[in-house]
Amino acid sequence: MIKKLKYIDILYFHMMFDILLACDIQGVIGINNKLPWSIESDASFFRKKTLYTDLPSYKNVVIMGKNTYKSVGFLNGRINIVVSSSMYNERHLKIFGTNLNDDNGSNNENEKNLILAKNLQHALTISMLLNDIEFVYVIGGADLYKEAFNHPCCRFIYLTEIQSQFEGDVAVNRPKIYKYFELCKASQVLDIDRLTNKEVTLHYNKLVSKRYLLSGKV
Ligand SMILES: NC(=O)c1ccc[n+]([C@@H]2O[C@H](COP(=O)([O-])OP(=O)(O)OC[C@H]3O[C@@H](n4cnc5c(N)ncnc54)[C@H](OP(=O)(O)O)[C@@H]3O)[C@@H](O)[C@H]2O)c1
Repeated sequence: MIKKLKYIDILYFHMMFDILLACDIQGVIGINNKLPWSIESDASFFRKKTLYTDLPSYKNVVIMGKNTYKSVGFLNGRINIVVSSSMYNERHLKIFGTNLNDDNGSNNENEKNLILAKNLQHALTISMLLNDIEFVYVIGGADLYKEAFNHPCCRFIYLTEIQSQFEGDVAVNRPKIYKYFELCKASQVLDIDRLTNKEVTLHYNKLVSKRYLLSGKV
């Protein structure tokens, strides 16, 4: 028998989000506001995941912290929500003065698809109110991940673990992630890190939130 969805279920469903994250074996994710590596399969996994929608007219939302936005710029083809209390408060100092990279579209698209939010909850509420959205991804950095890991609407983490050690100044707490999330799918590939020219193995791990499992919504 098909369960009748209640209004509250529909709201809850729309608030759900997933996390995309790549780290080394010690949880390092960044250095000098950049990625510590340059690995094509990691970048292409991120691109495919955030751009792909089942329905061609739909878009995905990417939610990122201020520093990550300053590092990667506007991500074309996706609705970008930047979480920053300072940018939100001084919205005119903003958006277009930052370092926009190759992944950019025209300023018009940027203007339409870039939204500022005060905090993660605000970003999720905005996502819920947008039309034609398929998936919502929190894409970092470390500051934003911290809040996202503990959020009740976090469903999956797509965790790319690079089986190597990198120098870094920002990291995530891997043991803590595995305390609250459970591995549900795993695969691996071999690639080259273009910054060091070394061969690296990437483990693609899909983790599900234990809280989400308990809610019976899986
Ligand atoms: N390996 C990966 O998968 C990955 C992914 C993304 C980023 N990175 C790396 O991570 C580093 C950046 O991380 P980061 O921790 O420095 O910066 P971040 O999380 O991108 O940005 C931090 C800023 O964003 C705002 N913010 C973040 N979380 C917030 C929250 N919960 N509520 C309100 N505001 C929030 C705050 O801005 P205000 O002070 O204006 O409020 C904060 O100062 C870079 O090295 C980047 O390359 C790695």
